[in-house]
Amino acid sequence: MSRKVIIAGNWKMNKTAAEGKALVEALKPLVADVTDADVVVCPPFTTISAVVEAAKGSNIKVGAQNIHWAESGAFTGEISAAMLKETGIDYVIIGHSERRQYFGETDETVNKRIKAALAADLIPIVCIGELLEEREGGKTEAVLDTQLKGGLADLTGDDMKKIALAYEPVWAIGTGKTATPEMAEETHAFIRKTLNDMFGKEIGEGVRIQYGGSMKSENAQQLVAQPNIDGGLIGGAALKADSFSALVHNALTE
Ligand code: 13P
Repeated sequence: MSRKVIIAGNWKMNKTAAEGKALVEALKPLVADVTDADVVVCPPFTTISAVVEAAKGSNIKVGAQNIHWAESGAFTGEISAAMLKETGIDYVIIGHSERRQYFGETDETVNKRIKAALAADLIPIVCIGELLEEREGGKTEAVLDTQLKGGLADLTGDDMKKIALAYEPVWAIGTGKTATPEMAEETHAFIRKTLNDMFGKEIGEGVRIQYGGSMKSENAQQLVAQPNIDGGLIGGAALKADSFSALVHNALTE
């Protein structure tokens, strides 16, 4: 089954509105030729509107980095699906390991956020991944299985058609340590098998699984060439137009 490649930049807590606008203005001409992949940038909340405006008329799509599950209410510091939708974005990252690590995100809250995003017609990019000690302790598959079963609980096959997953081994994020293409592929294949078991092969084979963790232009081609790696979720290399564009183009090189 052919799955459209998706390369998303997670800007994390970087770029003011003015900086984000400048980055997208610089990126637009560099990726204007990309037609066979989804190119997405995910700025911080306060930068979203400027980036949506700058990306208008281009092939760059915009996403957020988090979403709350309630429609409204006493949730200081949180942002609802309707608020995000109003800005004109299409995607939202959910369950990033930094949110799990620093902000108490659990599989249960990931599940609630996914449902809120789907209800608002936003495409969730759902992050999963193991810690270094879990990898070294031979627990990677058990950890991913729990994250998938918990995070995707009660979702239907139709829901899964609208979701992308991002496998980000936590030990590879921002460390310069990338999983080798073989290691990443082995894990992506496990994730695919788990999805097939949960939702049936027809659905599981259609879900896009991005890789994240020190992906850059130099290793993007080898990673995305793997049968079960359908793109990337990029941190550091997404913060400059030239490095992000080089990564996107290399990822798409046969
Ligand atoms: P780096 O590309 O900086 O390792 O970050 C990966 C990541 O966490 C993307 O969500």
